[in-house]
Amino acid sequence: FMPQIKAINHEAVVVEDMEKSLAFWRDALGIELHELRDVPAERSRVAFLPLAGAEVELVMPTTDDSGIAKYLAKRGQGMHHLCLEVDDIDSMMTQLKSKNIRLINEEPRTASDGKKYAFIHPESTGGVLVELYQT
Ligand code: CO
Repeated sequence: FMPQIKAINHEAVVVEDMEKSLAFWRDALGIELHELRDVPAERSRVAFLPLAGAEVELVMPTTDDSGIAKYLAKRGQGMHHLCLEVDDIDSMMTQLKSKNIRLINEEPRTASDGKKYAFIHPESTGGVLVELYQT
């Protein structure tokens, strides 16, 4: 059995000004804003813009000390990560380890909604932070 990547789930972009970013993604491009909400656990505000089964997510820090705020201070605005949907995250992670791919999470983490996810280090991906997600 080989684990399979099924789809692009979302692409996350770090922004410093949500309204300015929505002026581009929502107003200029015309992608519908599905939801805008605060995520207190991550000390951030997230905008969800679904698009053909995938989603653009805009992430803005709401405090100066969050992980996303530190990322923004260090690297500036831009693409944060690409999330790929996988049918079996456990076997995919075993497969990646066997190929010496550097992982950020050695084991999948469980989100508040019960879904499993894990991040792959950009060093092994050509510079892109990749998230794996099992629905
Ligand atoms: Co994500």
